[in-house]
Amino acid sequence: MPPVRRGRYFDQSPIWLVTGYDEALAVLKDPGSFSNDINTRKDAVDVLAAAGLPDDVAPYLSQTLGAYDPPDHARLRRLVSREFTVRRVESLRPLIQTMVDELVDGFPDEPFDFLERFAHPLPVRVICKLLGVPDEDTERWRTWSDGLTAPDPGAMADSARGLVAYMSELIERKREDGDDRLLSALIRVRDSDGDRLTDRELTSLALTLLLAGHETTVSVLSEGLLLLLNQPPEQERLRGDLDAVPAAVEEMLRVAGPAEIAPMRYAKHDVELGDVTIRAGEPVQVVYATANRDPRRFDAADSTVLGREENPHLAFGNGIHYCLGASLARAEADLSFRTLLTRFGNLSVAATADEIRWQPGAARRLAALPIRATSTPARH
Ligand code: HEM
Repeated sequence: MPPVRRGRYFDQSPIWLVTGYDEALAVLKDPGSFSNDINTRKDAVDVLAAAGLPDDVAPYLSQTLGAYDPPDHARLRRLVSREFTVRRVESLRPLIQTMVDELVDGFPDEPFDFLERFAHPLPVRVICKLLGVPDEDTERWRTWSDGLTAPDPGAMADSARGLVAYMSELIERKREDGDDRLLSALIRVRDSDGDRLTDRELTSLALTLLLAGHETTVSVLSEGLLLLLNQPPEQERLRGDLDAVPAAVEEMLRVAGPAEIAPMRYAKHDVELGDVTIRAGEPVQVVYATANRDPRRFDAADSTVLGREENPHLAFGNGIHYCLGASLARAEADLSFRTLLTRFGNLSVAATADEIRWQPGAARRLAALPIRATSTPARH
């Protein structure tokens, strides 16, 4: 299969599919040739409108950090990157551990849905704490966040409007009654130096931070656990060597990374890639899911090897748009799996493979994962 080839987008328009590892890396590392700025592309804006994003709120949801090119991208990313460094995230580990423990303490003896009891609430609590978003608002914005990917354009439009109105209102509340959290810090930047951050950018950035790490982290926690439960001997190995958990998390990201495709990029000029010439203006879709299974880059690329030693996967992207929350997501997954393995001698799926439910739609996401967690060690 050629690593760069013609394909079609969801609306059937022609695109270039970049499925090979080296070719994907070449695109991600070259923002001078490939633009992320969909807002300059009339056809891309039409696709957003066709998907149901109403004009009055589309700019708030489409002009996210990931849709900016340099130099504006660097200007915005600098405002928030300090909060997400490996060092800063290290200092959050005790707080994340407390949240993990609280959720695990509430596990019942009988089978329960891991998504509902753990994989959903953990990332939400962590990001709300970091931003300074009140916990009691969670249900409101989570319903809208789910609605954004609804197949029904009307529901999507309502959710988009709900989210933008909620965030604008929260920003006003925080303006009057600020705290030491990230959202208040961004509001202070906006109010003291409007050249660095416009009003709309502030709302967009706050929404991006709230939403970007939610479904993705839920997916790694739940699909990662499923991979682990499907390999009982690996579960035992990790229980005996918890320092091997980070490597297992990297393999979960490689084989079940939730970002299966990248945001669309557009060639800024004619570019040679693989064996093809991409013409200026043509849309280019990097496919993370296939790049991460490229046999030219990974041995046993289609197998799940939780002890894989070298693992330069692209689950968090690469280049200037490399995932801002990668350290945070890694810390959440590491602490979660360590705790689950330590607290429960036996973790198993409480359903047949047929009963495990997946969400409808293009992305591969679990809808429910019934599990049993007991302290009795497993017998093999
Ligand atoms: C396991 C969980 C996660 C995965 C797999 C993931 C994946 C990704 C990927 C692949 C990109 C690059 C997109 C591109 O090609 O341009 C990205 C960007 C981004 N991610 Fe994550 N993400 C995760 C968690 C998070 C978390 C927890 C946050 C926290 C706030 C976050 C915030 C962002 C932001 C703001 C960007 C845009 C960065 C930029 O354009 O400079 N992500 N993520």
